[in-house]
Amino acid sequence: MPIDKMTQMAHLLRSRTLPAEIPIFNLTRQYQSLKKEINTALRQVYANSQFIQGPNVKLFAEKFAHYCEVRYCIPVANGTDALYLSLRALGIGPGDEVITSAFSFIAAAEAIVNAGATPIFADIDPLTFTISPDSVKTLVSSKTKALIPVHLYGLPADMDTLINIAQQNHLAVIEDAAQAHGARYKNRPSGSIGRTGCFSFYPTKNLGSFGDAGAVTTNDAALAQKIRSLANHGSGRSQYDHTDSGMNSRMDEIQAAILNVKLGYLEQWNRKRRQVAQYYSQAFSGISELTLPVEPPDRKHVFHLYTIRTPRRDLLLNYLKSQGVTTKIHYPAPLHLLAAYQKLAYASGSLPESECAAQEVLALPLFPEIKTSEVRRVCEAIKTFFKN
Ligand SMILES: Cc1ncc(COP(=O)(O)O)c(C=O)c1O
Repeated sequence: MPIDKMTQMAHLLRSRTLPAEIPIFNLTRQYQSLKKEINTALRQVYANSQFIQGPNVKLFAEKFAHYCEVRYCIPVANGTDALYLSLRALGIGPGDEVITSAFSFIAAAEAIVNAGATPIFADIDPLTFTISPDSVKTLVSSKTKALIPVHLYGLPADMDTLINIAQQNHLAVIEDAAQAHGARYKNRPSGSIGRTGCFSFYPTKNLGSFGDAGAVTTNDAALAQKIRSLANHGSGRSQYDHTDSGMNSRMDEIQAAILNVKLGYLEQWNRKRRQVAQYYSQAFSGISELTLPVEPPDRKHVFHLYTIRTPRRDLLLNYLKSQGVTTKIHYPAPLHLLAAYQKLAYASGSLPESECAAQEVLALPLFPEIKTSEVRRVCEAIKTFFKN
């Protein structure tokens, strides 16, 4: 039977029987499992009422620096600010170019533009979805000042090769580790390899807050101090002494209290993500039409997203929807072809791997609290689709 007919019939059947929908993530389940601890932590914040620059933020900075094996962590308001503040602190601005991946969330490109510099988009490696060092090499110019690799979906980029290119060309490397808390490259934690590491604690991330939050990690004391100051209105030695025109990008005490609780579970959650990923990969290993996520031997993937690719992506998405399986496309368009960057005049076809990935990728439900029965249902639905 043709797939569209099959999808139609499945829709009809489902509307009669309605099996429970499998979400792509479920934050309520996570809250339920930590309710007591989180509520206690929050009650302490309310009682203390030091909502800005309080003890939880200080504790989180220490704990997260330790987790990432770096000397400094600067908690900030979100991951996009972490990237922007890194660029500002490195003195990158108008007239400068910064190379980043064309296949990612828009945040790194936005940070570059907001710093006054120009984003230069590089293509990706089609198997790892991370920035292609070969593409980067062709883009370095006398104006290039920095490189922002993105550890997309939880897999670190090819850092040694990128650091080599950066050293040869005097570029700063800023890691976009927003999707890669706990990932490792040659046993080094993501966020500990570049000049700075930039994290997002957006609620659905592997480590997520109850709102927006982010952090910068670094081993550079002067850079840490500069970022800390810029994130707090460019503050100097005393109140109302401002050495820079900065911004307000402070993590608040409520988010820090939640993150302090959740950080204790991150390793366990990442283990569960990896187990589910392994289960999916085994189940799909015989499906020749599917390209599965890879984990090169020198890297540890933390599966923020389990992303498959297939040329029949849209048909598969609709079929899975009819089966009550939620999926998501991260990302439906590469950055160089977005309306936001039209002025940069990239032609369609100029970054073919990024453009092809945008047509083929599909993220499946994966979160630490997913039930075995749900994982099995996802597998069965996908196997059924590819049998037809
Ligand atoms: C790869 C990547 N970089 C940066 C960000 C920006 O983080 P935030 O949403 O906290 O600003 C995100 C968040 O979605 C992301 O996925």
